[in-house]
Amino acid sequence: MSTGSKTVSAEDLAKKHRDISIAEFFEKNRHLLGFDNKRKALLTTIKEAVDNSLDACEEARILPEIQIEIIDMGRDRFRVIIEDNGPGIIKPNIPKVFAKLLFGSKFHSMKQSRGQQGIGISASVMYGQLTTGRAAKVISKTGNDKPAYYCEVKIDSQTNKPLILKEEERFGWVKEHGTRVEIDLEGSYQKGDQSVDEYVKNTAIVNPHSTFIYTNPKSEQVIFPRVTEQLPREAIEIKPHPYGVELGTLMKMLRTTDSKTLQAFLSHDFSRVGANTAKQISENAALPPNTKPKKMSRQQSEDLYHAINNTKIMAPPTDCVVPIGSDLIEKGVKKEINAEFYCSVTRPPNVYRGNPFVIEAAIAYGGEIKAESSAKILRFANRVPLLYQKGACATTKSLQNINWRQYGLSQSSGAIPVGPIIVLVHIASIWTPYTSEAKEAIAHYPEIMKEMRLALQECGRKLATYVKKKKRVKSELKKRSYIQKYLPFVGDALMELLELEQGDSDKVTDILLDVLDDTRSMPTLKDRDVGKTVSAYETTKEKDVGFIDNSDVEEFGSDEAGYEKEVSEDEKKNSEKSDDEIFNDSDDESENEEIDYKDNIDDNKDNDKDPADLNSYFN
Ligand SMILES: Nc1ncnc2c1ncn2[C@@H]1O[C@H](COP(=O)(O)OP(=O)(O)OP(=O)(O)O)[C@@H](O)[C@H]1O
Ligand SMILES: [Mg+2]
Repeated sequence: MSTGSKTVSAEDLAKKHRDISIAEFFEKNRHLLGFDNKRKALLTTIKEAVDNSLDACEEARILPEIQIEIIDMGRDRFRVIIEDNGPGIIKPNIPKVFAKLLFGSKFHSMKQSRGQQGIGISASVMYGQLTTGRAAKVISKTGNDKPAYYCEVKIDSQTNKPLILKEEERFGWVKEHGTRVEIDLEGSYQKGDQSVDEYVKNTAIVNPHSTFIYTNPKSEQVIFPRVTEQLPREAIEIKPHPYGVELGTLMKMLRTTDSKTLQAFLSHDFSRVGANTAKQISENAALPPNTKPKKMSRQQSEDLYHAINNTKIMAPPTDCVVPIGSDLIEKGVKKEINAEFYCSVTRPPNVYRGNPFVIEAAIAYGGEIKAESSAKILRFANRVPLLYQKGACATTKSLQNINWRQYGLSQSSGAIPVGPIIVLVHIASIWTPYTSEAKEAIAHYPEIMKEMRLALQECGRKLATYVKKKKRVKSELKKRSYIQKYLPFVGDALMELLELEQGDSDKVTDILLDVLDDTRSMPTLKDRDVGKTVSAYETTKEKDVGFIDNSDVEEFGSDEAGYEKEVSEDEKKNSEKSDDEIFNDSDDESENEEIDYKDNIDDNKDNDKDPADLNSYFN
């Protein structure tokens, strides 16, 4: 029956069918890449360029020195200039790096890096071109004896190919090697939370081996000098772990492998599969070890997939993950945050979906940190600050899931704790599970959440020890001040009772003060390192950490994945404890801590300090 309206045939529809270029897709969906508003666009552009500079320097084992400059061009237009001292980029690759989406060196490598998608910097160039019509200007040099290569590039979004508008060799660039990119874009610059200023400061905290020279649009320059000359340990590339490979990927690997037999395929193309494990997998799959991988049917591939997941295989090697280390995190935090107490923790490596990762956490407490607001969370993934999507991030959720009242902070149930505290959480991983391509928040994998919880609880215990000790000091000082106040009267009374000479009152008071010193111990908070921890990672990294316990992880637990287990003592202790027990533990710890009261008593004798003013005793 006709509806009256014009019918469209399949042939008519087919006329509209056409390929969609990835560049066209992201041009329309730029919010997916972090360009949804002007403020964020400015930050994302800087972040993408700085990520690349840091990655390149570290890969080339160069201590990074990065210049970040934002020039206000008026009418919401900014020029962003990022210059590094990295290895440079070879001439033929420069146009593709900056003007072709999905071109990069990191997507296929199973190695920890900031970038992973091959989209970042070209997306920034595309956004700049879209909002100002201008090309990106790039100059790069790969060695002292070579000229620098300069080019101006745009993206042809219909084909996702670079358009080179100008190119030349330049001899005057003073740098030995490095890359400088200049992008004009529509943006908005504001200070405060989620600002470029905050991003640069936080980047400096977690990259203590790097120097940043930052000039904001108001021409104010801030230099963040490096605090260590030590580059992070080199990240090692690993092969995929069999447990993390899905059926479709396994079939693709079987089709494209160079190995001639199933046995060789399993032991060459995966990590942690030796000859014996390969044999075991073949047996479990009921496939002869000499089966030709390229000839395997879909059913055989599926049998192999199930056999892999039913065979016990060691967890992936973890030297591919490079945490910052609790000492350096603490140094970085101390450099940028003025607090009275700091502590940090680096957890032992763990694995989610076959990907190794390490969680680190730190707490800064007191000092200049605001007391009446909710704890500030500094979130990082592979040393990159995450400033947006806080609510969607696994770090926030983990923080909220902990009962912080047990550690001396106030908290409404399930909320972020309130108090003078800044919490830092870092995930180092060969593949960070972001919730979107904009790389803003970490997905809620149970293994990751569990590690975050353990790291935060460990910090919480140290904080509780400090807070309790501080309370004890305060109450002791109060009691002391009362006693001291009345000692001269007691001295006078004793003088009268014992019929001493008139001038002996002072002597008696001095003796009584000595008795007070000898009988009332005085805990001290002089040592700001009261919360310093030995990194669990440091104690385990030398060993081959092949066994990981995820037994209390709900969905992707080791029972499902079948990793062999070896539970570290530290982990066992922490994961088995309730918050209450942890709090009581910290109480014990504080009781056992060495008490150094001499200094404070001397201070008291001077009597020129206000007993209620704790700070006068801590400095
Ligand atoms: N400053 C630089 N120095 C040296 N190489 C660089 C630099 N910037 C980019 N590259 C190279 O260009 C590639 C593409 O960079 P791009 O930012 O587009 O992707 P990515 O960093 O691989 O991943 P992501 O999309 O997650 O950022 C990088 O993989 C790197 O090899
Ligand atoms: Mg990148």
